Amino acid sequence: MDNHIKYKNLIDSLKGKDHIGILFVCLGNICRSPAAEGVMKAIVNDNDDSDRFEIDSAGTGNYHIGDLPDHRMRIHARRRGYELTHRCRQVTEADFDNFDLIIAMDESNRRNLQRIAPTVEAEKKIVMMADFADLATRYDHIPDPYYEGAEGFELVLDLLQSACANLYDALKN
Ligand code: 4NP
Repeated sequence: MDNHIKYKNLIDSLKGKDHIGILFVCLGNICRSPAAEGVMKAIVNDNDDSDRFEIDSAGTGNYHIGDLPDHRMRIHARRRGYELTHRCRQVTEADFDNFDLIIAMDESNRRNLQRIAPTVEAEKKIVMMADFADLATRYDHIPDPYYEGAEGFELVLDLLQSACANLYDALKN
């Protein structure tokens, strides 16, 4: 909790803005980042704040382009009230112009994003999702559930719900 204090300047610079673009990024863009997108969209909708936010997700890999999220993630998310309809796409250099925050799920995603970032300024938009989660004392990343069982998907959703709620609180007017 409160690890995101290290992003204070970045978050403060966005707070007053009437348009905030958030891009969630993982490896495949079929499990963690489309789930984060669905959770965050639900939060801004519930707060009647969706006009202020543009929320999307992308992957550093290109294995699943055009696909819906993994069916296991869709099922676990649906049980919590989220319908995940995102179509997989790969991160591009242009994403660093189009979004204010680029949120990585793990250290490997962060390193890949740093390689894609076109400028040092652009690199400063990269933050870690787990830094916003209450459970960050135990998790410094959002663990890849792809080769895990049901509890891996549930853990991801627990972490994402916590992190997205705290991210929204940090950004709300
Ligand atoms: P994600 O999970 O990064 O959370 O979407 C993965 C999905 C697919 C693969 C790896 C991770 N894959 O190697 O195909």
